[in-house]
Amino acid sequence: MSPPNTSETLRWVGDAEGYLVLIDQARLPMELVELECRDAQTVWEAIRELKVRGAPAIGLAAAYGVCLGLQSMRDRDAAAFHARLQDVTDFLASSRPTAVNLFWALERMKTVVDRHRHERSAARLHDALFTEARFLHDEDRATCHAIGRHGADRLPDGAGVLTHCNAGGLAASEYGTALSVLFTAQDQGKRLHVFVDETRPLLQGARLTAWELVRRRLPATLICDSMAAQVMREGRVQVVITGADRIAANGDTANKIGTYSVAVLAHAHQIPFYVAAPCSTFDLSLAGGDGIPIEQRAPEEITHGFGRQTAPDGIQVYNPAFDVTPARYITGIITERGVIAPVTADNVARLVADRQAP
Ligand code: MRU
Repeated sequence: MSPPNTSETLRWVGDAEGYLVLIDQARLPMELVELECRDAQTVWEAIRELKVRGAPAIGLAAAYGVCLGLQSMRDRDAAAFHARLQDVTDFLASSRPTAVNLFWALERMKTVVDRHRHERSAARLHDALFTEARFLHDEDRATCHAIGRHGADRLPDGAGVLTHCNAGGLAASEYGTALSVLFTAQDQGKRLHVFVDETRPLLQGARLTAWELVRRRLPATLICDSMAAQVMREGRVQVVITGADRIAANGDTANKIGTYSVAVLAHAHQIPFYVAAPCSTFDLSLAGGDGIPIEQRAPEEITHGFGRQTAPDGIQVYNPAFDVTPARYITGIITERGVIAPVTADNVARLVADRQAP
């Protein structure tokens, strides 16, 4: 029996006047519960509170959030529709700063309406937005599978593979990005063993990646982030693969906090370190990683993780949610168009430049 696919992270119910349903990722793995979103505010909160998270999934949620935010404008005039579109996209853009897929998806939605600028019917403009959101979702499914196909060759049969955070179906559509490479190799009959960093402080590895791998029956071992060096030293890891939230023009890559240390460790142990990401995760407006905005999150995520106090009152806390791995530590970036290796500005431009314009 083939392993089950991962659940649908996002699904839309009904026509343009329907609503969005998300898996509430904050409640996994103990509960598989869905959350209905019937307005842009609920989508904003879901993104902010990591009920939907992972760069591509955030972008898709925002695209559907635009549809929700404009539903009440269907019988208004076009000028009012355009004004609300700007407000709604600005609002959704304020939810989280690092994953560029959010801004990319919002631009795609605005571009659709620009293309219909002579359209006087707000209902037809709204239909066009809905069609674009569905298109982005379908495109993401195909993109994730293509990333898997391009990356699977990089995993030798019998390999130990370490991953950080969650770049699976929960973070995108169906197979995800980094996990798509693993799932595709598994579909090809390769035997793999995955080491899953728990991913402090919000445990996306322990809660989400481990959940996906168990469902797929892909052999996996959960480790604390601080154990990665020892596991590498013991020779158990042949490849590292992670996702990305934003990749600068030179290949510097922002991903979940802790990714940079994993990359340095991989370099020290001469283990190839791959990033898997769609072209929509590149931000060619930034020459290097220093310009990537890094989200700062609440101190309580560290002092009171999952509701239990584990640090004294009064301690200062620093809680950046992402870090930037310099391109020199990245063996290759696996995209839906192929693998960028070595990771240089020229090679990045060659593969993704024309994908940036919506
Ligand atoms: O804070 P999160 O859980 O949204 O961080 C997610 C990551 O860092 C993922 O690795 C990244 O978005 C890639 S998802 C395909």
